Amino acid sequence: MSADITSLQKETRKFKPSAAFAKQAHIQSPAEYQKLYRESIHSPRSFWPRMAKELAWFKPWKRLHEWEEPFAKWFIGGQLNVSYNCLDRHLTGSRRNKAAIVWEGEPAGPGKPGEERVLTYTDLHREVCLFANVLKRNGIVKGDRIIIYMPLVPEAAIAMLACARIGATHSVVFGGFSAQALIDRIHDCGAKMVITADGGYRRGSVIPLKKNVDEALKQCAGVKRVIVLRRANNDIHIEEGRDVWWHRELEYVTADCPAEHLDSEHPLYILYTSGSTGKPKGVLHTTAGYLLGAYLTTKYVFDLKEEDTFWCTADIGWVTGHSYTVYGALANGATTVLYEGAPNWPEPDRFWRIIDKYKVTIFYTAPTAIRAFMRWGDDWVTKHDLSSLRLLGSVGEPINPEAWMWYYNVIGKKRCPIVDTWWQTETGSILITTLPGAMSTKPGSAGLPFFGVDPVVVNKEGKELPANVGGYLIIRKPWPSIMRTIYGDPERFKRQYFSEIPHVYFTGDGCRRDKDGYFWIVGRIDDVLNVAGHRIGTAEVESAIVSHPKVAEAAVVGRPDSLKGQALVAFVTPKQGTVVTPELKEELRSHIGVQIGSIAKPDDIRFTDALPKTRSGKIMRRLLKEIAAGGDVKGDTTTLEDLNVLAKLRADED
Ligand code: WTA
Repeated sequence: MSADITSLQKETRKFKPSAAFAKQAHIQSPAEYQKLYRESIHSPRSFWPRMAKELAWFKPWKRLHEWEEPFAKWFIGGQLNVSYNCLDRHLTGSRRNKAAIVWEGEPAGPGKPGEERVLTYTDLHREVCLFANVLKRNGIVKGDRIIIYMPLVPEAAIAMLACARIGATHSVVFGGFSAQALIDRIHDCGAKMVITADGGYRRGSVIPLKKNVDEALKQCAGVKRVIVLRRANNDIHIEEGRDVWWHRELEYVTADCPAEHLDSEHPLYILYTSGSTGKPKGVLHTTAGYLLGAYLTTKYVFDLKEEDTFWCTADIGWVTGHSYTVYGALANGATTVLYEGAPNWPEPDRFWRIIDKYKVTIFYTAPTAIRAFMRWGDDWVTKHDLSSLRLLGSVGEPINPEAWMWYYNVIGKKRCPIVDTWWQTETGSILITTLPGAMSTKPGSAGLPFFGVDPVVVNKEGKELPANVGGYLIIRKPWPSIMRTIYGDPERFKRQYFSEIPHVYFTGDGCRRDKDGYFWIVGRIDDVLNVAGHRIGTAEVESAIVSHPKVAEAAVVGRPDSLKGQALVAFVTPKQGTVVTPELKEELRSHIGVQIGSIAKPDDIRFTDALPKTRSGKIMRRLLKEIAAGGDVKGDTTTLEDLNVLAKLRADED
């Protein structure tokens, strides 16, 4: 880390929530937010006990928290159960017949409706209890680790909640990952069981989940049992003595399964980060602090009300699916929507159809999806009635103002506030955002810290930087849902997050804070380039490129340059129908010159149909860097969504 980061973005637009929205919101004004925020930071002993009372406890906690750097504990001595908080406590009142999960399966093709299932809280509670008894029947006890490798069907959430109910620790592995990814994760966490399905649907074809599990288990002797859900009806092998069918097992159990009383710090789950370099990190989250983080942010950030229908489009294989599709939504007694398939299958209006059909009120998705929707064109959107929407959310990477404006105008019809939520697998829940009824939003800025979160932008010596000077985003003290450790590797946990700058949590993101205190994330520090002495966040240059009317998506990386240190190389996906001419490169270069300045003009622009992305939608800049430098792509490509993209990019090199 050397000099500070030069932030070049000049976005100044500001959007205030409507008076009508503010009036109905949980938090209605900046003053109300400030008061609570100050209390959360300066008087945690009055703030957190009040918040924690909104959860159901079997035994009250004794001490609020403990911080033996780098290890945090919260609500010490308390006992509770996440599944009880998500289910049982909703069964005594009017929520018992409310829809908990609304599920839409992937349609078989154009014009064919997807399957649908609605589970009320009573239904979901029963299914979870039954399946928790299945786990016990198959030898699982409190503390065991279980891998969940499933399509996005209600049973995936049922499996998670059943683990939580009996105190087994789940590790969900995204259904798009390979057998090798399964092997690494099974070994790392020492899993005894895998829960999977015969297959899952993706864009009209069947992903052979069970086959991948069979492949993986050749190298994983520790897994004694595999529970298989019948989903795609594809042919599979059943290993006698090891594999059992989910539906068969249900015949042997009752729905009577009281929730275990678990300590606040009991491990709830391990989730491996999709890190593109090195061994995946098993991020460990525990019970009380995590649940409180997910619960409170769902309530306040999404301004959740009893009658909302909440759709977070993330797969449960990612942390966003854990904290918002499942735990945060259900802990609040909300109706949560699950959709099995891809946004453009069978046609690019799948999401808008679902919003229209189920009258979704809160929609939470990722910038990469938003840019894809822009590319597919407004017509797919405008033919559906999206008037049920009242709030939109974004997560996963900085949202470029261009995409933000499209989201605001075309999807939200200028009525819906947008919450741009900054957080990480490691943070467990949203840390920086706007509260939709209380604050104005600035396109491209995540906003202000959530309650109890103390973020600062610092230089490499850890010194706080003045407004609008870019630096490193750190969090000064632990919050309830902070990860507890890297599973099995506490040393790496300390090294990775608490060593770069001593005694604070190091996020790895570059950031600046403006004079109103709003945080502007400029991307991962690895993505911050040094061009002629200026450290430039690639996200800002990308955002400028994407603001050109002919561009759908862009990724900018550095290439070693003897003169400037690093030169910028831009990979650009044009909008559909755009004719790529040699002049377009010059047009883009001068556009960037106008938007940011000459310093940000890329030395090389390459056009491409698609960018290499991880399966969670993050652009794999490491691969682009290798291509830009003209070398071979050597690194690990197992997390790449579409291998063809790479072949095409390399073939296009001139
Ligand atoms: C990035 C996803 C800007 C950031 C929840 C972070 C964001 C990493 C935002 C974590 C946002 C996530 N604005 N950047 N609203 N949200 N990021 O672990 O670089 O998959 O460090 O968690 O995504 O990614 P992860």
